[in-house]
Amino acid sequence: FSSEKYSIKRKNFGSLHDADLNYFRSLLSADRVITEESDVLPFNIDWIKNCRGQSKVVLKPKTTEEVSQILSYCNSKKLAVCPQGGNTGLVGGSVPVFDEIILHLGLMNKIISLDEISGALVCEAGCILENLDNHVREHNLIMPLDLGAKGSCHIGGNISTNAGGLRLLRYGNLHGSVLGIEAVKADGTIIDCLRTLKKDNTGYHLKHLFIGSEGTLGVVTKVAVHCPALPKAVTLGFFGVNCFENVLELYKSAKSSLGEILSAFEMADNGAISSTVENLKLSNPLGDFPFYVLIESSGSDEGHDNEKLNRFLTKEMETGHIIDGTVTSEPAKMRNIWNIRESIAGAGLVDGYVFKYDVSIPLQNYYDIVLLLRKRLGNKATRVYGYGHVGDGNIHINVTTPEYTKEVYEMLEPYIFEEVAKVRGSISAEHGVGFRKPQFIHYSKDETALHLMHGLKHFMDPNGILNPYKVLPD
Ligand code: FAD
Ligand code: MLT
Ligand code: ZN
Repeated sequence: FSSEKYSIKRKNFGSLHDADLNYFRSLLSADRVITEESDVLPFNIDWIKNCRGQSKVVLKPKTTEEVSQILSYCNSKKLAVCPQGGNTGLVGGSVPVFDEIILHLGLMNKIISLDEISGALVCEAGCILENLDNHVREHNLIMPLDLGAKGSCHIGGNISTNAGGLRLLRYGNLHGSVLGIEAVKADGTIIDCLRTLKKDNTGYHLKHLFIGSEGTLGVVTKVAVHCPALPKAVTLGFFGVNCFENVLELYKSAKSSLGEILSAFEMADNGAISSTVENLKLSNPLGDFPFYVLIESSGSDEGHDNEKLNRFLTKEMETGHIIDGTVTSEPAKMRNIWNIRESIAGAGLVDGYVFKYDVSIPLQNYYDIVLLLRKRLGNKATRVYGYGHVGDGNIHINVTTPEYTKEVYEMLEPYIFEEVAKVRGSISAEHGVGFRKPQFIHYSKDETALHLMHGLKHFMDPNGILNPYKVLPD
């Protein structure tokens, strides 16, 4: 159990009784109150199998009013609640720690409206990101975020984690794209900030409280998101690079040469790509290189974009920043390349256990931590590799071992966070704090900021029933 592994004590919440289950059954319907142990199990385990809770019940509301009634009841009985979207979170935030009630948003999956002119999409929080993207594409729009988990993560989960993803460098983060939010507070109050306006400076920008607060301040029930125009011309390149300095040179050059059409700049080291080849049997279209870079351009004029791209590629082959590569605009081929990049997230699981880190570091120090860890761990790790969103200064470091061991854990934490703090980086760039990092949050937040966070939590959720043991340190 995660609670045993991380030695943490259950707080003084109420315990679930038959009378509570009967109330939930009367409110929802029996089929939306899941209590069979084997049916509850998948909701208790997180995607990377780092954390496992012991909840006895999953509730599946269909409306905001039901969410409100559930929370109002839980608050009055001091029953703890863990909001859950697609359960693809990587920091243990989406699964209970003890017996918290799981509030699964998956049945709140209606698209409410789409304004083709402004690009404002309004939908329920349980919509799957990929379904939304498919829907808005039919109207020549795209979702402003894309990530490997798109086939199962929910927009409500994306917003609650302030997910970044593969095109943040182009479309910005969700604090910019989210136009409005409807959320339910711990006491059941429905907060209606579901506007679709781009500009609205009427007082405090309350929607931001729910973006990235990982279900600790409220349950997001509806969202309004700004969708950019569907690019008419997309090209993807996958390149082999000799050293990390050249990855940075290439990034600098891509920004100045491609300008507004640059839509992704991702990197993966040899270990990351090898993990997909060896563990998932994916084929790498390039030879063996120390580093790989994926560059995507998205624009509105194929001829103009290709001209720019060709000039950039010719120059970078000449400078030697690119050693080899493949460039394509064919959808199936682009999907294959993206699949290699997106599969890195899960490839390490085949080795046994994955220690996953997600940090922001100034670009000049971006890759140092991988080298330090390889040296520090020696043969105690199966693999140590780095990959990530160079354009956002965000690197993911995965350390794999045959199984979890305390020895490796203690070699990694807090060492990694100390190294990140030395360069004033962030110990969680995009995945959040969840259950795995509250005790380390001080490496990135000072005492006054933490004090304010605690104050906000107490104000929004005085009984602390919403996603306890997550985000905030005790
Ligand atoms: P969950 O995992 O269910 O929940 C995540 C957190 O949000 C939990 O704390 C939960 O309590 C809370 N929550 C969920 N729904 C709600 C709601 N409606 N109201 C209030 N709180 C809620 N993340 C990135 O940032 N960038 C990436 O590129 C990226 N790639 C990924 C690739 C893969 C293969 C995987 C497995 C994960 C990836 N992630 C990435 C992490 C994860 O997908 C994101 O954090 C995603 O936004 C989580 O959405 P979800 O619906 O699965 O939320
Ligand atoms: C990614 O960029 O692939 C995701 O954030 C998931 C991961 O870090 O593994
Ligand atoms: Zn990422």
